[in-house]
Amino acid sequence: MIKTRPFRLFINPRAGTPGTVVLPDGGYRRARAEITSWPGYAQTPLRAFPAIAASAGIGTLRIKDEASRFGLGSFKALGGAYAVCQVLAAELARRSIAPNATSADLVGGTYAEATALITVTCATDGNHGRSVAWGAQRFGARCVIYVHETVSQGRVDAIAQYGAEVRRVPGTYDDAVRAAARAAAEHGWFVVSDTSWEGYTTVPVDVMQGYRLMADEAISQWHGAPPTHVFIQGGVGGVAASVSVQLRHAFRPAPILIVAEPDRAACLLASAEAGEPIAIAGDLDTIMAGLACGEPSLLAWQELGRAAAGFMAVPDEAAVDCMILLKKHGMVAGESGVAGLAALLLAAADPAARQALGLDADSRVLLFSTEGATDPALYDALVGDA
Ligand SMILES: Cc1ncc(COP(=O)(O)O)c(C=O)c1O
Repeated sequence: MIKTRPFRLFINPRAGTPGTVVLPDGGYRRARAEITSWPGYAQTPLRAFPAIAASAGIGTLRIKDEASRFGLGSFKALGGAYAVCQVLAAELARRSIAPNATSADLVGGTYAEATALITVTCATDGNHGRSVAWGAQRFGARCVIYVHETVSQGRVDAIAQYGAEVRRVPGTYDDAVRAAARAAAEHGWFVVSDTSWEGYTTVPVDVMQGYRLMADEAISQWHGAPPTHVFIQGGVGGVAASVSVQLRHAFRPAPILIVAEPDRAACLLASAEAGEPIAIAGDLDTIMAGLACGEPSLLAWQELGRAAAGFMAVPDEAAVDCMILLKKHGMVAGESGVAGLAALLLAAADPAARQALGLDADSRVLLFSTEGATDPALYDALVGDA
């Protein structure tokens, strides 16, 4: 187990209410067919941790390990790159160059002259930008990525390695989102964002449809009685919403879904408390860089606001404890990848939270370690010789 640390838990009074279909299943089937056809595609492993489960007083703990996803180190490889492919195909059709360009056409360079003149852009705290840059390189587009001031140089270098131009802007992730949108409007670029807002939903739907593959794989790898609980980390909420949709698709009743965030960037928890999506103030200063977001994605909120049973905010120290714990069990998980485990272990050790979430010795918990050591120097610094 890990050390007891303060955390917040909000039980969502709107859980289970009907709402809009954010991610239609037809779109997911197309995303799955496309992504699973890419060279290098392989399912990531679902790992079992019986000793951690026993010490947490639950029945089963399995963690989907995204560290090996397409060699990019995180689940984000599924979303941004797929959306880049969709953006390019749509633009080639709009320009009457190719009505139905496939990813194989793009990778093969059939429309290379045209795609080289198309620029895709986004903001990132690391992993999404890496996916967009990788997709742009693969599919032959130009790429400009915006990062905020505290994104580590290791993560910037990892993006630049795929041929993208990386621009650093002052402020937080949310400021970088606005900078990318401004630049796109000015230069006629295409924003491939992992977050959505009023009037900007087509691309983030594609991004989130790509993420569903991670949950779909985990469900197909799960054996025995279905999971009772799923803890999943939230930045803008995109991956949590994708997991939520896929769980509801696969299981009736769906497992209890708990969204975990850093306590210094808990915009989804704050929105749940407010009963509507709200932006939180502050510098969002957390080591969980991928989760350092102050504004929920509109689409993600539409799913999570009605489907998540609870929202938890956990401290950075608990994330480091979990990185160390997993390392001792032979698994490499990055700072943003362990928030779900931190939430589970803190809740499992707290009698009131255990009861509120219905965690007991029979609980079967599914988690997603959404990144490996995406910044190896930072990983080493945090985990040390543990
Ligand atoms: C490793 C990791 N996990 C989880 C998330 C959260 O994803 P979302 O912003 O879609 O909630 C991110 C976002 O960058 C991430 O990098």
